[in-house]
Amino acid sequence: MRFDHYGDVDVLNVVEVERPVPGPGEALVRVKAAGINPGEASIRKGLLHDRFPASFPSGEGSDLAGVVEEVGPGVDSVTEGDEVIGWTDQRASHAEFVVAPAEHLVPRPAGVSWEAAGALFIAGVTAYAAVRAVGAGPGDTIVVSGAAGGVGSLAVQLARHAGAATVIGLASSGNHQWLRDHGVTPVAYGSGVADRIREVARGRVDAFIDTFGGGYVKLAVEELGIVPGRIDTIIDWAAARQYGVKTEGSTAGSSPEVLAELAALIDRGELEVPIAKVYGLEEVRDAYRELERRHTRGKIVLVP
Ligand SMILES: NC(=O)c1ccc[n+]([C@@H]2O[C@H](COP(=O)([O-])OP(=O)(O)OC[C@H]3O[C@@H](n4cnc5c(N)ncnc54)[C@H](OP(=O)(O)O)[C@@H]3O)[C@@H](O)[C@H]2O)c1
Repeated sequence: MRFDHYGDVDVLNVVEVERPVPGPGEALVRVKAAGINPGEASIRKGLLHDRFPASFPSGEGSDLAGVVEEVGPGVDSVTEGDEVIGWTDQRASHAEFVVAPAEHLVPRPAGVSWEAAGALFIAGVTAYAAVRAVGAGPGDTIVVSGAAGGVGSLAVQLARHAGAATVIGLASSGNHQWLRDHGVTPVAYGSGVADRIREVARGRVDAFIDTFGGGYVKLAVEELGIVPGRIDTIIDWAAARQYGVKTEGSTAGSSPEVLAELAALIDRGELEVPIAKVYGLEEVRDAYRELERRHTRGKIVLVP
């Protein structure tokens, strides 16, 4: 999947390119599934040019799961035929084949579907980092905005797993039952949301994970009275600067150990990656159109 200039989904094209060759320390993976993420859409539109510029032609995609096809010199951690979950930092996983550093690949446990495996990296490590950043622990009451989205759906479960007594998930009504089924108290967002949070919290709210932006950091500090050290936003940098809250996300969470830990939780049935929809690689434009509506439950996955 390539694009030659910044723009809307129409710039995305599936083209034939040379099969990449793994260099020293790298492995070539035949991709079985690869997640898509909102940040990729922002990069493709040029909205992040100052921070994460693209060079053209550009590929796309970090998340990946697949089968090792070939390894480069000096690689002994994986071998041909291994089923792996991993990532690339080269914007390259939305493809039939991707080269990734061997150290970015962990084994795919049998209980992790290809779709969940392929969608895990960005959303998983970001949710992990956010839950860790707010110090989620026993007895806590924690609010998560965007609670049914790619990151939010994992963050609410990881917060429960960390022992939080009450996890309040902000979501539209269509996602409330899914949240309840995962031990989360759903609250509708929109006007009056702070009152509704206070009502179900029945007392202090200890921490807030913002995966949506649009004023939730302000609400957490000013209306819920949460200390900045227990608020993490993965999207609202301006509010983070203003209020001194944390911004730990994929960079902070990104490691093979965290990825393997998340995969083990899924394998044991303790974490679910909800798969909203699976698209073929050639349907990549439709996949991003759906993602950019910002109402995905869980993850959208491309399957080459
Ligand atoms: N800093 C990092 O490292 C990092 C890493 C990953 C992602 N991100 C960013 O984090 C954000 C979330 O990523 P994602 O993959 O989770 O996105 P996503 O899957 O597209 O999230 C969509 C969710 O947003 C919810 N939503 C829509 N309108 C809302 C509102 N007004 N208030 C609260 N929630 C609302 C939707 O809920 P309903 O369907 O219930 O309406 C849906 O569940 C994106 O902006 C992404 O770029 C940052």
